[in-house]
Amino acid sequence: MSTKRTTPLRVAVLASGRGSNLQAIIDAIEAGQVEAKIVAVIGNKKDAVALERARKHGLPDLFVDPKPFAGRPDSREAYDRSLLDVLAKQDAELVLLAGYMRIVTGLLVNAYANRMMNIHPSLLPSFPGLEVQKKAIDWGCKLAGCTVHFVTEGVDEGPIILQAAVPILDRDTPDTLAARILEQEHKLYPRAVQLFAEGRLHVEGRRVFIDGGKTSGLALLSPS
Ligand code: GAR
Repeated sequence: MSTKRTTPLRVAVLASGRGSNLQAIIDAIEAGQVEAKIVAVIGNKKDAVALERARKHGLPDLFVDPKPFAGRPDSREAYDRSLLDVLAKQDAELVLLAGYMRIVTGLLVNAYANRMMNIHPSLLPSFPGLEVQKKAIDWGCKLAGCTVHFVTEGVDEGPIILQAAVPILDRDTPDTLAARILEQEHKLYPRAVQLFAEGRLHVEGRRVFIDGGKTSGLALLSPS
């Protein structure tokens, strides 16, 4: 059952790089398409463009340096504990990994079970991990795409919320394919956040159901 919220969903974004997905979410919020408020943008890299984008839009940005934790046997957990402090202080209800190139520990995953999403540039469960556009081309796939999923401890393994498919064309390079997929990522991620804000996502085992309306979890796109 979806319940109408009276206040915008409080969202925190974790990012490591250029932050184009963060930008898509900011734009969708500013355009009134997503009823959410970004309460923190947290980066694990000081020069992450994502942090700059946050500042430009007057959003709270924070660099959490992994270096002081390095070398400890519990370095990952200790790092995530400091993230949890920030998330709790900001009262974040949903955490979005947006090009966050760090493995999250069970500590963070369990605290935000079914409240943490990731976007990945493949049609999972095919091609988890890195350089996935090249892998899809090299495999000879005819379709590629992107997936928004809830985060579990296994990398790129959690329950799938939405997927969009794009064709792989004969002339594609990893870069041209990545660009075609990214265009869809920028539509898919805001859509998933809005569905969450509307309280319309429910998880049964590995399956995520979208309550009400006609929205299906798949966007199939015609070749360009
Ligand atoms: C995106 O393509 C995202 O799907 C991918 O990193 C890129 C980040 O771009 N994420 C992963 O591969 C996670 N496994 P962005 O910083 O411009 O949003």
